[in-house]
Amino acid sequence: MTSKTIIGNLKMNAVRSVLEAYRDQVSDQSFGLLVPYPYLGWAQDLLKDTSVWIGAQGLSEHAQGAYTSQVSGAMLKEIGVHQVLVGHQEVRALGVDAKAQFHQARLQGLKIIYCVGESAEEHARGDFSQLEAQLEVIDHGEDLIVAYEPIWSIGTGQVPEYSEIQAALNTIRAHLKSNIAGNIDSIQILYGGSIDNKNCEAVMSHTDVDGFLIGGASLKPEQMLEVVERCK
Ligand code: PGA
Repeated sequence: MTSKTIIGNLKMNAVRSVLEAYRDQVSDQSFGLLVPYPYLGWAQDLLKDTSVWIGAQGLSEHAQGAYTSQVSGAMLKEIGVHQVLVGHQEVRALGVDAKAQFHQARLQGLKIIYCVGESAEEHARGDFSQLEAQLEVIDHGEDLIVAYEPIWSIGTGQVPEYSEIQAALNTIRAHLKSNIAGNIDSIQILYGGSIDNKNCEAVMSHTDVDGFLIGGASLKPEQMLEVVERCK
């Protein structure tokens, strides 16, 4: 069994001591941490002798210019950040243009972790049309990870039935297969939403998920490291 891809999304938390705890506790585990912008360079330096990679939680939909407070893909690239999260529900909810952000990340050659997922109402209807619409932006399979994150599962402690996760993964794979030229086998599809050290193994063994995107539990290094160990 190949090891899974595990990525922690630290969201908007003050994570200086959390990152120091990772530095102190990590051994040879390989996984990613998406940190808030101000910590990017510092975190890269702190964890440079480990197998932990540091990515960004987002980027501007614009290339450059008079967009106060925003951070461009070119800036990320310039400081040596190669992975960026796009399309997270907490960002989509702000009304940003995820498609334009995806495009900017592509222009800079960044590896994109692209989030898609259905709402509670859509889930109740078994409706994946919104999720499929979100997948439309995907142009090719290079430098891409897809994260399936049901909106109703993010931060709620509610994990879908295994069969529901598998149905979503099948829908995503079928969509990619019929809409993208070339081999899609290299595209990893993660699950995200209320995953922790207690439930990761069961989700992994009942579905063909390629790994996890982890929010809350990634703020607790010992839990996150246990997830990584269990998913080896
Ligand atoms: P959660 O967040 O693990 O806290 O549910 C997942 C995410 O937002 O990526």
